[in-house]
Amino acid sequence: MPPDYARAVELLHAGELVAFPTETVYGLGADAANPAAVAKIFAAKGRPADHPLIVHLCGHAAVDQWAEQVPAVAWELMETFWPGPLTLILKKQAWVPDAVTGGQNTVGLRVPGHPVALELLRRFASSTGRAGIAAPSANRFGRISPTTAAHVLEELGDRVPLILDGGACAVGIESTIVDCSRGEPVVLRPGHIAPAHLEAVLGRQPLIETASGAPRVSGSLTAHYAPQTPMRLVTSERLLDFLNAQRHKGDICGVIGHSQLPQASMPHLWRMLPANPTGYAHDLYAALRDMDHAGLSMIAVEALPEDPAWAAVADRLRRAVAGAGQS
Ligand code: TXA
Ligand code: MG
Repeated sequence: MPPDYARAVELLHAGELVAFPTETVYGLGADAANPAAVAKIFAAKGRPADHPLIVHLCGHAAVDQWAEQVPAVAWELMETFWPGPLTLILKKQAWVPDAVTGGQNTVGLRVPGHPVALELLRRFASSTGRAGIAAPSANRFGRISPTTAAHVLEELGDRVPLILDGGACAVGIESTIVDCSRGEPVVLRPGHIAPAHLEAVLGRQPLIETASGAPRVSGSLTAHYAPQTPMRLVTSERLLDFLNAQRHKGDICGVIGHSQLPQASMPHLWRMLPANPTGYAHDLYAALRDMDHAGLSMIAVEALPEDPAWAAVADRLRRAVAGAGQS
């Protein structure tokens, strides 16, 4: 069955929520120009209300409605990477609701590279003036982002009246966020679009935000993307010893690996993910979700290579470990 776009647009106009696929993860969307609708996102997710949301648009032409003083470098990034997994933080237009921006003077904008998201955005835009869909990932706060429609249902159930199904997300981790609102572009959240890709457009290495401070990006809270089962990162060399020790304690571990490891005949649940960052990102959240359902005492994740190409998935894994087993 094709996605029910007409009903989705009707719900958005009525101030209701619609979950939809993007190429990164599924989003939980509301009319970004309607603060009461946006408030429902926070209620459904159980998310603190001061966290700003990304506004999804159907094309660059809509950017000036939402943002002002857009620097040339931001236009260049849009030209190169939109539609795609890149969010730009820009100075907001005065009218943009505080509910969307968390009261900040900036707004996060993105044109997603998924045909269902784009069709929804186009239809919404053709039926309303200031068309933008505010959408965080469609999971409960702090949990694993959904990469299929079934994951959204599992996370939010009847808290969302409609879930558009666009299959499994191609990228699998959240968009790269680049702040273009304070002069020099700064990467706030790593993603599929890596610093090297940005460098090709910027002509120099982008700055990368590491400083802790106010939670301007929800992914920048230490604990995030987390399963309920405790998780540990274990180096390839130590993994077998670690599992033996766990087994002696009577614990059954799930193992998420990526390199050729001797799997022995241990009573552990093994999952091998692709040994490249793109394939790994694509499968990571679904693997964590499966492991979380398997009734394990622990998820042991084989530590990733120390290579910039792995930075985005390494970031998600670190946060998952920090938040795991807490709920
Ligand atoms: O790939 C994605 O970005 C997905 C899909 C649905 O587009 N969305 C997503 O949304 O990951 P969310 O809310 O889970 O994470 C996006 C983060 C927000 O947590 C927020 O802190 C940050 O983007 N953000 C939004 N507006 C911002 C702003 N004005 N300044 C700084 N950070 C902002
Ligand atoms: Mg999220």
